[in-house]
Amino acid sequence: MERTYIMTKPDAYERGLIGEVISRIENKGYKITDMKMMNLDEAILKEHYAHLADKPFFPEIVTYMTSGPVVGMIVEGQNVVTGMRNIMGPTDGLEAASGTIRGDFAHNKNENIVHGSDSVENAEIEIKRFFG
Ligand code: CDP
Ligand code: MG
Repeated sequence: MERTYIMTKPDAYERGLIGEVISRIENKGYKITDMKMMNLDEAILKEHYAHLADKPFFPEIVTYMTSGPVVGMIVEGQNVVTGMRNIMGPTDGLEAASGTIRGDFAHNKNENIVHGSDSVENAEIEIKRFFG
């Protein structure tokens, strides 16, 4: 069964939206097979966001992602990588359609509630990164 790595971000914790994200995952028919709350540090964020580590806004991502706890999850289901990206919506909450997590709860591309792996290959790398 295909797996993906989903992670609620600190704004989801702060705004009390962790349950909402979990409900949407479960309502879609996917299975959460592991879950843990963590506080991330800069080192793991440099790995996880390696494609953004040399961007001028990377320090803001670190400030945001270390501002509170995240909840990492392994989510399983048929075509779950694409399916989760669809129910999350695109990066920018302003562009994300209503009905998606980011469209309903985010309004910019910085603080957008949830992370989801962008490919099956990256999902396995991210699951290893956060769950060992
Ligand atoms: O999260 P997603 O895969 O949709 O987007 P990404 O391009 O992999 O970027 C990862 C995260 O970095 C985003 O979800 C945002 O939280 C942050 N980001 C940002 O703050 N400003 C940008 N211009 C792009 C991304
Ligand atoms: Mg990404």
